[in-house]
Amino acid sequence: MASDKPARRAVVTGASSGIGAEYAAALARRGWDLVLVARRADRLDALAGRLREGCGAGVEPLVADLARSPDLARGAERVTADDVALLVNNAGINGYGPFTEVDQALLAKVLDVNVVAPTALTRAALPGMVARGRGAAVVNVASLLAFAGSLPPGPLPHRAVYGGTKGYMVTFTRTLAAELADSPVRVQVVCPGLTATEFHLGTGEAPVGGEARVHEDGGMPPADVVAASLAGLETGEVLCVPGLSDPGPLTGLAEAELALRNGSGAVLADRYRAADARAGEPQ
Ligand SMILES: NC(=O)c1ccc[n+]([C@@H]2O[C@H](COP(=O)([O-])OP(=O)(O)OC[C@H]3O[C@@H](n4cnc5c(N)ncnc54)[C@H](OP(=O)(O)O)[C@@H]3O)[C@@H](O)[C@H]2O)c1
Repeated sequence: MASDKPARRAVVTGASSGIGAEYAAALARRGWDLVLVARRADRLDALAGRLREGCGAGVEPLVADLARSPDLARGAERVTADDVALLVNNAGINGYGPFTEVDQALLAKVLDVNVVAPTALTRAALPGMVARGRGAAVVNVASLLAFAGSLPPGPLPHRAVYGGTKGYMVTFTRTLAAELADSPVRVQVVCPGLTATEFHLGTGEAPVGGEARVHEDGGMPPADVVAASLAGLETGEVLCVPGLSDPGPLTGLAEAELALRNGSGAVLADRYRAADARAGEPQ
């Protein structure tokens, strides 16, 4: 059943599967109308049908490859519209592989989908959201790998560029949140750990074909990632880590960042000065 809340529209990128499809469903249940963005038209149409029928939501599929400039421009045009009160930048690809071997064209695509597109869509959406003053939000889906990408890899794939893009999303969002603190717009970055989606079925170069499937690596149900994000948005949480039971490390992170900034001045640190002096000594 549709909620009796007034309709507002959310734009969800990467809505054809996984976490994005769950954002769409959860928002439709909460009374939101939707624009669903992804490359696979069949998946978007099927989901749109289910959400119209099941929730009474108004749903527009927007078939777009966000790595292509003309498609990104269409998306950017849509998010500027007056009815858009929530932008969920969820689309993402992994491009996993050893850095020295992975195709540069794939790495460029990872940067385009994971960094360029969400930045452009956010830039397009925010002026109107701020000016309308009605309360709005931008949610960016990053990853725990923004923090953990350099930890011992174990069985994990090589991921320097992917981890870098997610680090960008974390820093971008947190810095933007500070900039918009006095505005009616909230911004949030979500850092899921391993999540049970299609994500590891390919590199993201091309869409995963066939019926909806889940990779064999397991992980948190995507609905739980979305539940954490939407609950965190209600409480104004900027950095949301769905699987972190004890939020203590978030406080520790903020403290470490403050210590880094406050402990770093315009004077060369002693350990470098000493090393520099030693390097100048005759051998
Ligand atoms: N699954 C995990 O373990 C995990 C963990 C942490 C963070 N994340 C992040 O969560 C987000 C969602 O991923 P997921 O796990 O739900 O994976 P997924 O099931 O593979 O979904 C990825 C979505 O992005 C879309 N997409 C990919 N390339 C696109 C492009 N060029 N243009 C437009 N849309 C594109 C895909 O649709 P089409 O193929 O139809 O275009 C799909 O809807 C990503 O940002 C990912 O980095 C995932």
